[in-house]
Amino acid sequence: MGRLFLFSNVDKAKLVDRAAWVWKKNKMTKKLNVLVTGGAGYIGSHAVLALIDAGHRPIVIDNLVTGFRWAIADEATFYEGDVSDSELVRKIISEQAIDAIMHFAGSVVVPESVENPLKYYNNNTAKSRSLIESAVSGGVRHMIFSSTAATYGIPESSPVREDMPTIPINPYGTSKLMTEMMLRDVAAAHDFNYCALRYFNVAGADPLCRTGQSTIGATHLLKIAVEAALGKRASVSVFGTDYATEDGTGVRDYIHVSDLASAHVIALEALVADPERSHTLNCGYGHGYSVLQVLDAVDRVTNNRLSRKFEGRRAGDPDALISDNIAIKERFGWQPQYDDLDQIVQHALAWERRLTDIQGT
Ligand SMILES: NC(=O)c1ccc[n+]([C@@H]2O[C@H](COP(=O)([O-])OP(=O)(O)OC[C@H]3O[C@@H](n4cnc5c(N)ncnc54)[C@H](O)[C@@H]3O)[C@@H](O)[C@H]2O)c1
Repeated sequence: MGRLFLFSNVDKAKLVDRAAWVWKKNKMTKKLNVLVTGGAGYIGSHAVLALIDAGHRPIVIDNLVTGFRWAIADEATFYEGDVSDSELVRKIISEQAIDAIMHFAGSVVVPESVENPLKYYNNNTAKSRSLIESAVSGGVRHMIFSSTAATYGIPESSPVREDMPTIPINPYGTSKLMTEMMLRDVAAAHDFNYCALRYFNVAGADPLCRTGQSTIGATHLLKIAVEAALGKRASVSVFGTDYATEDGTGVRDYIHVSDLASAHVIALEALVADPERSHTLNCGYGHGYSVLQVLDAVDRVTNNRLSRKFEGRRAGDPDALISDNIAIKERFGWQPQYDDLDQIVQHALAWERRLTDIQGT
């Protein structure tokens, strides 16, 4: 008896759906011209490499407010400018025959969004509106959008699925959710489809050390930890030790930035293969590590001990935030390559050393 008989009708439907998509994807050999907004930043610069590695052609627009010109691969065409400059964006779309947009440009610091919400509603929401309008009027049919787990707020349970309530608890999350809503409505009204990827905690660096997290004053735990490991900081603060987790510190789902970049390339090809369909998908590994487990991993890799500074909880931090990643795996066949905390630490550390040489800090 064939194994298929053991599957339910729902499983069978999913298999047929996936097989159809793989067939369409395999047929697609066209090299795509992809406008990468924010391609000089942390995640965008990895996406540029992933596009080049997959045989596509990245064209970057970045205003360099937090990004670095040197972080953009030499093979990519670069335009310095703002995504809300519709004259420039329309010029790039026609000059470079843009097929799709990967939209990374944005502001990313949650506490800053609480202090200065209008900055976030401008840079993340209003400027995304302008970019989407340039895309639609310029005839670009596909967009991949950097969304975030912050759209969920404090989820009622973890792992969190895409269809669970989205109740953001800070302007950063709201600014991204509003852009997701615009994309949904625009896709319903125009020849346009999109994939909103809700990232969990992005970490690590390109395994070949071509780019990495270079943001000045970054707030990401692993970035802070590797800076401390290299003597750039005296200690690492641990905020809250009384969460409902095994060791009392917050648990997060850390995804290697190169796996995230590859998810974008797969999403791009899926959007082109099936232009009638849009997606909102979590991007994470589906399991997490506590703050102390991350610091222990850094200690293991460096064979040293970081100084930990225990502090009170920060407002609005959930106990655990873990993705349910079944949808992206089933729909796109996404297969993470670097789901290994020690390897993520090794890559982050290697990049931090290289950054010291580049920036001389
Ligand atoms: N880093 C994370 O853990 C994380 C998690 C969830 C979502 N995201 C989202 O991913 C995207 C990229 O994040 P990142 O960590 O690479 O940040 P980053 O600051 O390193 O990169 C953002 C890039 O966009 C550019 N930029 C910003 N506003 C612009 C504008 N108006 N016009 C042109 N360029 C502009 C910056 O100069 C920078 O190069 C952001 O939209 C962020 O909200 C990041």
